[in-house]
Amino acid sequence: MIHTNPFLRSLETKARMFAPSARATFDANEELCCWMLDPLARWAEGAYGKRAFDDAAKSYATYCLGVWKCQQLYEKTGRYTPQQIPDVVAGVYEDEGYMVPYMWAAILIYPFWPSMVSHIALYRDDFLKSLPPEAQLLELASGHGVLSLLAAETRPDIRLEGFDISPPAVAVANRLLEVSGHRNRVAFEVKDALSLRLNGNRRKYQGIIAAMLAEHLEDPHSLFSVLAHHLADNGIAFFSTALESAQRDHTFEFHHESEAVKMAEEVGLRVTRFACDAATPVPGGRFLPRALGMVLRRR
Ligand SMILES: C[S@@+](CC[C@H](N)C(=O)[O-])C[C@H]1O[C@@H](n2cnc3c(N)ncnc32)[C@H](O)[C@@H]1O
Repeated sequence: MIHTNPFLRSLETKARMFAPSARATFDANEELCCWMLDPLARWAEGAYGKRAFDDAAKSYATYCLGVWKCQQLYEKTGRYTPQQIPDVVAGVYEDEGYMVPYMWAAILIYPFWPSMVSHIALYRDDFLKSLPPEAQLLELASGHGVLSLLAAETRPDIRLEGFDISPPAVAVANRLLEVSGHRNRVAFEVKDALSLRLNGNRRKYQGIIAAMLAEHLEDPHSLFSVLAHHLADNGIAFFSTALESAQRDHTFEFHHESEAVKMAEEVGLRVTRFACDAATPVPGGRFLPRALGMVLRRR
């Protein structure tokens, strides 16, 4: 079947091996996936032209193969690939040739991976819809920028600023922003998320997004301190992370969902919504890759 969605259509020719599973996830969650993919298709084509869909499909295939290889290595070694953060910064976050395809894949896993699709519902229905009116939002590790842009699209009353450590990722976000029509309410900047609370910065936000960042840090406790420091009393945070999922730039290994919950509770936050779904493990393996999402409020 040739799909009407341009991303799926390209997957069917440029990433055939991964298309059936992506299509099944999309078909089972069509309304939710279209909420993400329809505006994304508009922005992608506006920013990069029609070739964006084939490029995204090829990037998705390369990424899925890379993830699978890393997971197999993880099963052998029993731990994530021992790369130091400065090596990851130089070899991944600062490398445009790696980062741009990675950003396409990072957004496409939301509608196409069964373990990620529940995060779209959590983000849209439990986070975005619950933000106070006129909320100011902060996105940490905004990457491709699509979560902030979708927030702006869904909530015309809010303003957002997104920070990411990767210059090529911020360049992608800015290209999509340029054509999105949200330039007056959204801004992206290159910044280390962990440096935010330094220099006496006491700014408060009614919404904070920290999606798929914690597993990229040496110690995610510092991320939870940033969340607690910058979240307004009436604010809510969207947090997500990967567990037992090896990737080239994953450095902190979460094994138990309770570890992330405990880190949140230790800084005075409480979990008001929670979702966690498993991905396909290596057959006979000891690790079960999962993706966890939480909505947090102050205690
Ligand atoms: C898997 S991507 C997630 C992107 C996006 N948040 C999402 O959910 O699709 C991880 C992102 O974390 C960023 N990152 C890693 N360490 C960071 C740090 N210390 N401060 C800010 N961004 C960071 C990377 O550059 C990359 O864009």
